[in-house]
Amino acid sequence: MRKVPVSPAIVGRVSAKTIRNRPGHLPLVTKGAIITASVVDALLRRGKTWVWVKDEIFPEFEADEVVSQETREVLTTALGQIFRDAASPKKLNRERQEDLLSNAVRRLVEEVAANDDVVVNIGRVRAWDNYTFEHSVHVATLATVIGKRMLMTDDQLVRLGTGAILHDLGKVTVPQEILHKPGPLTDEEFEIVKSHARNGWDMVHEGYQNIMPTSSIVILQHHERLDGSGYPQGLKGDDIYIFSRITAVADVLDAVRAERNYRRTYRPTEVLRIMLQDAGVRLDAAAVEIALRHVSLVSAGEIVRLTNGQLGMVTGLNVGEPLRPVVSVVADDLDRAMPIEEMDLSGTSLQIADVLDEWPPAVLEQIKGAGGQIPH
Ligand SMILES: [Fe+2]
Repeated sequence: MRKVPVSPAIVGRVSAKTIRNRPGHLPLVTKGAIITASVVDALLRRGKTWVWVKDEIFPEFEADEVVSQETREVLTTALGQIFRDAASPKKLNRERQEDLLSNAVRRLVEEVAANDDVVVNIGRVRAWDNYTFEHSVHVATLATVIGKRMLMTDDQLVRLGTGAILHDLGKVTVPQEILHKPGPLTDEEFEIVKSHARNGWDMVHEGYQNIMPTSSIVILQHHERLDGSGYPQGLKGDDIYIFSRITAVADVLDAVRAERNYRRTYRPTEVLRIMLQDAGVRLDAAAVEIALRHVSLVSAGEIVRLTNGQLGMVTGLNVGEPLRPVVSVVADDLDRAMPIEEMDLSGTSLQIADVLDEWPPAVLEQIKGAGGQIPH
């Protein structure tokens, strides 16, 4: 199975997992069921940006995930309630919302701690409308993984994770037309977008008493950069709190992997170049180093093109090798099907050059033509 973005293109595919709107609710689609147009509509309405489908070439493949689907759903639900109510003058239920969020972040910390030795498989965020929620869950996961590697205590990780998941709360004050504007922003519009850092921080201070200042500072500071080029205060170096420096790395890493409608997608090699360029200059060097060791720039289940032109699917990840996972190669550089071969790229001169959304039709045709078997 592999992850595909939710779009009308997936109608007719077989769902590889049962997907629920919320834990305990009736499923939107069950494992093994065909995805219909109404399922796609329901998924999009419920804020799902991607689903697992059975892969055409590797129907049996299953990717491990560091954070369970259920925990991600709990986090998204808690975050959704806070985002919906944050901008409203009424302060009903805020304590309950804070409880829900802190329980959800605790689950996240527990799961990250239990999967100590793995590389994080975050996947790409694509669908625009639900970008903020899914991105926030990714940022909290990445920040927690980085903090764990910095030997933070569970309590510190919960405070870091809480700040990280709320980092873009102030986006609720930015008009939708500006947030979703295709094309570049005017200077004035950019100033409005920049106000989300301070606005989010103000909102937490005014409305959420149980969120610790060491968490909420992340909302204010996540766009500050070590060299003073960030905003809103232009802080430098250690004047930026460690939780904020970690969240900045997680935010940039996930944002450059994301596909936004006004921005081209970066190839994994470009993501690596951007992160290395900024390490120690704009972004915390230790946090970048940990992120690049323990966060893969491709995900298991993604279709990739290697630097020698061969095509395959990522089937395993390697610690310390963000561009050299294990790949099951299925076709050569001219998309001619070849016997499937599992290749561990670690220690080789090969790496990932590009990530594809689907298998090229020519490759699928050859494999189907061979009765689903690739000739040996
Ligand atoms: Fe932000």
